[in-house]
Amino acid sequence: MIKACIFDLDGVIVDTAKYHFKSWRRMANELGFDFTEKDNEQLKGVSRMDSINLILGWGNKQLSEADKVKWASQKNEWYLEAVNKMTPDEILPGVLVLLQDLRKKGYKIALGSSSKNAELALRKVRIISYFNTIIDGTKTTRSKPDPQVFQMGAQRLRLAPEECIVFEDAVSGVAAALAGGFYAVGMGSPENLGAAHLVLSSFENITIESIIKQIGA
Ligand code: BG6
Ligand code: MG
Repeated sequence: MIKACIFDLDGVIVDTAKYHFKSWRRMANELGFDFTEKDNEQLKGVSRMDSINLILGWGNKQLSEADKVKWASQKNEWYLEAVNKMTPDEILPGVLVLLQDLRKKGYKIALGSSSKNAELALRKVRIISYFNTIIDGTKTTRSKPDPQVFQMGAQRLRLAPEECIVFEDAVSGVAAALAGGFYAVGMGSPENLGAAHLVLSSFENITIESIIKQIGA
């Protein structure tokens, strides 16, 4: 029986995935190369330092560890400039209605994000109070596709993985959920997220009852 929903943040609750992409691309461009939106799919859900290693590989760039840290924090500064300007109208369509409905019906709500900036983004869009527990990149030691972030969320809620639905826009995030024995709902296109139990294009006009029915939980 489903008792909780665990949400990824970037690209599921708010469209910050586009800010991560823009900031990484700006870094790549300053280093003299470029990468595409398709390449960017591989960065979703992946930690900051794992991301910079992937990107530098695409550009055949070798940097010292110190320079990697310097560029990663520069990227984070650009990213934070965007996040600091966020307002509640950047919550993705249907999210607020679903969160309110889940609360009303007694489901637990958790956040399972790789980002170290997750709490800031949740505060900016003023929905932090909906979450019973928040697991983010400041609390984990292993990045998605490792299931650690979701396992910690379920543990905090004292629930088993099969009692939780994970909502994810990242290939690595869907893989993490499945590896941990959770139900996985992909938010995006079936082309990328086909491994999930169900793929939705948005939360608009969708109810928890219909999601549970469609995943066969
Ligand atoms: C994930 C994003 O949620 O968090 C990734 O999908 C990002 O793109 C990762 O790299 C880490 O985020 P941050 O904010 O700690 O650099
Ligand atoms: Mg995401």
